[in-house]
Amino acid sequence: MTKIYMNAVIIESFTFYSRGAQSILLAGIANNIEMKYGCGVGKCGICKLRLISGCTGSLLKSDTEKYLYAKKNGFILPCVTYPKSDIVLSYIKP
Ligand code: FES
Repeated sequence: MTKIYMNAVIIESFTFYSRGAQSILLAGIANNIEMKYGCGVGKCGICKLRLISGCTGSLLKSDTEKYLYAKKNGFILPCVTYPKSDIVLSYIKP
């Protein structure tokens, strides 16, 4: 039997759970969390959130320039990222 892991995703005051390698964006939308997004494939950067704590993985076969830039600067792109552990995120203040 395959085990499906559930990781808690906390964004500000919202908590929801993501299954296995489901993107954080899709998990958030499935849980009625307001999530900004554009391309959905890691290229535009509109979905970017700050990673406060936890481990994440990439759903991309080869990481995009935006993905690598975000990761280097403490952000994630939820459309192409899944949680490897419980994670805490925050919105980016304008
Ligand atoms: S929606 Fe475009 S990078 Fe995430």
